[in-house]
Amino acid sequence: MAAVWASFCLLILLAALSPHRAYGSAWDSLFGRKQDAAADPTVGICASSVVVYGYPCQEFEVTTQDGYILSLQRIPEGRGSDSSGGGGGIKKPPVLIQHGVLVDGVTWLLNSPDRNLPLILADNGFDVWIANTRGTRFSRRHTSMDPDDPKFWNWSWDELVAFDLPAVFDFVYGKAGQKINYVGHSQGTLIALASLSEGKLVDQMKSAALLSPIAYLSHMKTALGVAAAKTFVGEITTLFGLAEFNPKGDPETQYLDALCAYPGVDCYDLLQAVTGKNCCLNSSTIDLFLENEPQSTSTKNMVHLAQTVRGGKLAKYNYGRPDYNLMHYGEFNPPVYNLANIPHDLPLFLSYGGQDALSDPRDVACLLDGLKLHDAGKLTVQYVENYAHADFIMGLNAKDIVYNQVTAFFNQQPLLTKETLAAQHVVGGSQGWEQSTDLNSWASGQKFKAGDQLVFKYTSGLHSVVELPNESAYKGCDTGSALDSKSSGSDVVKLTKAGTRYFACGTSGHCDQGMKMKITTVDGNAPSSPSSSSSDASPPASTSATASSSFLHSALSLFVIAALSATLLLSVF
Ligand SMILES: *[C@@H]1O[C@H](CO)[C@@H](O)[C@H](O)[C@H]1NC(C)=O
Ligand SMILES: *[C@@H]1O[C@H](CO)[C@@H](O)[C@H](O)[C@H]1NC(C)=O
Ligand SMILES: *[C@@H]1O[C@H](CO)[C@@H](O)[C@H](O)[C@H]1NC(C)=O
Repeated sequence: MAAVWASFCLLILLAALSPHRAYGSAWDSLFGRKQDAAADPTVGICASSVVVYGYPCQEFEVTTQDGYILSLQRIPEGRGSDSSGGGGGIKKPPVLIQHGVLVDGVTWLLNSPDRNLPLILADNGFDVWIANTRGTRFSRRHTSMDPDDPKFWNWSWDELVAFDLPAVFDFVYGKAGQKINYVGHSQGTLIALASLSEGKLVDQMKSAALLSPIAYLSHMKTALGVAAAKTFVGEITTLFGLAEFNPKGDPETQYLDALCAYPGVDCYDLLQAVTGKNCCLNSSTIDLFLENEPQSTSTKNMVHLAQTVRGGKLAKYNYGRPDYNLMHYGEFNPPVYNLANIPHDLPLFLSYGGQDALSDPRDVACLLDGLKLHDAGKLTVQYVENYAHADFIMGLNAKDIVYNQVTAFFNQQPLLTKETLAAQHVVGGSQGWEQSTDLNSWASGQKFKAGDQLVFKYTSGLHSVVELPNESAYKGCDTGSALDSKSSGSDVVKLTKAGTRYFACGTSGHCDQGMKMKITTVDGNAPSSPSSSSSDASPPASTSATASSSFLHSALSLFVIAALSATLLLSVF
């Protein structure tokens, strides 16, 4: 019985991936030849979609702890920035952009430069990074496994939470040297929320913009009606094996074509019901989308997303049997990601659409309820009445409606930027503020910037911290002329501006024994202040193909895939 359910659900799932039956065979032409042309993996995203518009772009590779090699692009600055890439000591605030399921980083770059998020951010003074999840076209390598090996696909979004995102954050943080602003769409919001709730990324994330946020998925609208999902989910992995889920693959497309030819199965309506009606997509952009997407994910991930839909809870992958769960987690049920663990002062911007069938407003309400302990003022919510899932990535007017808000939101964190650039120097390192510490050699090994802090750690009562007014008082250990005295045992002194300051211990005789130091502070790197308007030069259009409205329609429907529809349907049954 379960197996029957499984196959049935699979068919429905695949049906969801298909365009109208009249285009059933068009599937191949949509994803077939064109795809091959665009899919040359030797041409990276920088070359194909960024440099062509006159922006600088660098390709990087990041290896996750479990061995996946991910591709990552950096657009360090806008078009025509006067400079030699980040020179001049001014560090641009980094933004990391994370796509959703079944697509890759290219989706962000399909509109013209003045309308796509990464390039708008670059033109507004941000250091932009584009992530590509494991399994997608440019992230199909591993230190020891091959994508043909089923084990390569033994992961779900739990692994994106535990490995992909943390690896990419570590890398960007290392390169940029400051905390990161994050933009996620769809699954990209889910994995960030889950990662944060596990205590990951929290020290490296400055703020997050969550577009079409997905965490709870109980309410999505669907013409398929009531969910009757019961037990099939456990079996579907055995059906497909631990395999790649490639929406363009042969078995998948054959199922689709066959199913859409069934009497009574109207794939077109099915799709309409699932996607939500995207208001504002350009047909040329959709053509480009079809050349580049959808991308593979793992079947296990599809199953896990389906569980996310049905469970009403944000939990780890359910192995389908209490004893299996016990084996993996030491508990009968998969552990839950607790959103209440997300730091309450993390600045969050949520934007969701009234027509979004996947990120249903009621589920967003549920997410907001999960964030109800968040500090007032740290959570900004935007509701866009006529937007559906794809409008957030490719909408022609997304710049005016959403991206300008995102840019403004990131720009609201300038003080934070300064704060995060600021370092704390524990005086004397691990030895602390002590007579035996060679304080001047410690100080000469540090770089003190305006905004940094000194932390004096010592045994209260034994020592103290006094600040002396000038060089002669310092040389003569004239502690009687002290400007200030502290004695808590853990004192913080803020280095507010450039200049030299003198500190000594106030305990009699200690200064004379050498317990004193001179600190020279230099000007800190101010965060760049991005200009408020973005470039509006208009780029040459890249592709071709005219889209008939029916083509457009099936294309729109296909986009849904990217937007998660597959998993939704999977769950409905
Ligand atoms: C898949 O990964 C899980 C742990 O994440 C492991 O327990 C299991 O043995 C793996 N399966 C295969 C076939 O490698
Ligand atoms: C240093 O500070 C002391 C105490 O405020 C003051 O008496 C002295 O004149 C200052 N010396 C110089 C060189 O400024
Ligand atoms: C749609 O995109 C094409 C190619 O980028 C562009 O030439 C056209 O002007 C766009 N249409 C609209 C309405 O912006």
